[in-house]
Amino acid sequence: MTDNILSVSGISISFGGLKAVNNVSLDVPKGSLTALIGPNGAGKTTLFALISGFLKPNQGTVTYCGQDITGQAPHINAVAGMTRTFQIVQPFAAQTVLENIAVGAHLHYSNRHAAFSFARDIATQVGLDSQIDKPAADLTVAGRKRLELARALAAKPKLLLLDEVLAGLNPQEISEMIPVIRNVTKNGVTVLMIEHVMQAVMNLAEHIWVLAQGELIAQGNPSDITQNRHVIEAYLGAGAAARLNEPHRNIQNTVSVTTNDPSKQGNSGSNHQASPLLEVSGLRGGYGRTEVLRGIDLKVNKGETVALLGSNGAGKTTFNQMICGLVPTQAGQVKFANVDITGAHYTDIVPQGLIQVPEGRKIFPNLTVLENLELGSFSRARARRSENIEYVFETFPRLRERTKQLAGTMSGGEQQMLAIGRGLMAEPILLILDEPSLGLSPRLVEEMFALIRKLRDTGLSILLVEQNVAQSLDTADRVYVMENGALKFNGLPSDLMGSDELRRAYLGL
Ligand SMILES: Nc1ncnc2c1ncn2[C@@H]1O[C@H](COP(=O)(O)OP(=O)(O)OP(=O)(O)O)[C@@H](O)[C@H]1O
Ligand SMILES: [Mg+2]
Repeated sequence: MTDNILSVSGISISFGGLKAVNNVSLDVPKGSLTALIGPNGAGKTTLFALISGFLKPNQGTVTYCGQDITGQAPHINAVAGMTRTFQIVQPFAAQTVLENIAVGAHLHYSNRHAAFSFARDIATQVGLDSQIDKPAADLTVAGRKRLELARALAAKPKLLLLDEVLAGLNPQEISEMIPVIRNVTKNGVTVLMIEHVMQAVMNLAEHIWVLAQGELIAQGNPSDITQNRHVIEAYLGAGAAARLNEPHRNIQNTVSVTTNDPSKQGNSGSNHQASPLLEVSGLRGGYGRTEVLRGIDLKVNKGETVALLGSNGAGKTTFNQMICGLVPTQAGQVKFANVDITGAHYTDIVPQGLIQVPEGRKIFPNLTVLENLELGSFSRARARRSENIEYVFETFPRLRERTKQLAGTMSGGEQQMLAIGRGLMAEPILLILDEPSLGLSPRLVEEMFALIRKLRDTGLSILLVEQNVAQSLDTADRVYVMENGALKFNGLPSDLMGSDELRRAYLGL
């Protein structure tokens, strides 16, 4: 007997002609924290589905606790102590956070009271204790990720498969979650985690397996992996790899903003003072009686890229939705291209060129990639649909390869590309990007920011909402920091990063 809790041997699965997982063999030692990394679409989530029984392999075996469980149904595996989280989280939206967690707990507690009491402990463990009575639908992306972890933990796993539970968290929230995950392993649970947040992988993983195009291309300890040429090429990208090998080896904390521009300009180097495009003043509103935004004054000038930062739950997404007409405004004014659009319906706002790529992608899962893109030009730029599709395909070649694939079966990162592509189809005048780098591999994150800079340099105005503080500040002309529904900072990236006090207060760095 080995001391591996999990062994995968020669496993493969194809979808049509695509070998999503191709002859993969890997071992996970009992009690270890092992990471699985690799480019978007590499087959990581598919491998989880093969291990946990959601998919049956065409070939190969899965051995868990010494038993062949190949193709065994997920609920039987769950009883045997194997639980997984899902990358695209889908909690029971109308149930409370606590009820959602209790679903996992019911696996071991038939008594409702006991299940709920255990669920409460788990909520505390993952930092959701203050939100247990909320409907799950009201959680932010980060909250939903925590809930996903909590639901899995409530099933008392022996082997926990985590699929990107840190995606969408800001640097501070990631630092808070690292000890939570480490604690899980200290309590004897073996963890296999898929993660693009290299800060966490480097901090947590004892061993790393790297998958690319369905095949394992490398394995080793964190420092081997970050220096492996193939891994750098396929996954990390040169920039991220270099940062990981810097002395503090802490990618999220090595913010490299060097906007020491003497003329005090933002990153695009041009002066946008003159012509305002989006002018928001005194904006207030929220959901029902809860006021989320408490008087926001924000401006985006023509051609300017503005970053809006702040912790999860600060109100950034609500702000986006309010200016796009998706959440009612209670007070204040929104002007876009000198037209008052306060309280206008989104069907009147989109045609004017105020286009949002929403948080969490919101693609249409049962439509194809091409149909999703076509819908992007439903109310704007319809006449130039085919040219624009070509432009999107040039930007994201993966989408061209997959025009007929149902969007819901695309990998997490591929769905993100699709959402951005759909936004570009409408020929935005102001493009609002709500966490565009969420779920992308380090290399693609670099490419995404390069793309944002490229869009910026074409004269497009961009409002960028991001958890990726370092690269946002490298890209933006100006930055706002939101906290509890109010703006706390408004200025140049260099001013924010140049002051220890401001940086600590607003970014936790
Ligand atoms: N049911 C399906 N039909 C067709 N293709 C699929 C299906 N499921 C997955 N794929 C494709 O298989 C490949 C592997 O997908 P998978 O979700 O495993 O990637 P991943 O490594 O988890 O990527 P990411 O980091 O972006 O989440 C992708 O190209 C995806 O589009
Ligand atoms: Mg995935």
